[in-house]
Amino acid sequence: MANYVRAASVDDIPEGRAIVVDIEGESFALARVAGAVYCIDNICTHDGGPLGEGELDGTTLECPRHGARFDVCTGRAITFPAVVPVNAYDVKIEGQDVFVDLE
Ligand code: FES
Repeated sequence: MANYVRAASVDDIPEGRAIVVDIEGESFALARVAGAVYCIDNICTHDGGPLGEGELDGTTLECPRHGARFDVCTGRAITFPAVVPVNAYDVKIEGQDVFVDLE
């Protein structure tokens, strides 16, 4: 069952960038690509780097610690040194509010 929780305002996320948000004590990365918003875990599966502080190139987010790249749509680890995906979460936008499904 879906459990959508408000994560941010759309205006909090610059186009083509990612931000870090805390929701219910957990850390997530929100990325805005061509008006859409995607959500993945903020913690890199390689060594805990903060993905939401990385550079976004299209739908690819680069970990600022060692450069692994993740697909923000699916959470897939695209390049080494990360090999394990991060969780990706459904997002919906209502007005200016971004909601993330934590289920
Ligand atoms: S912590 Fe992310 S690539 Fe190493």
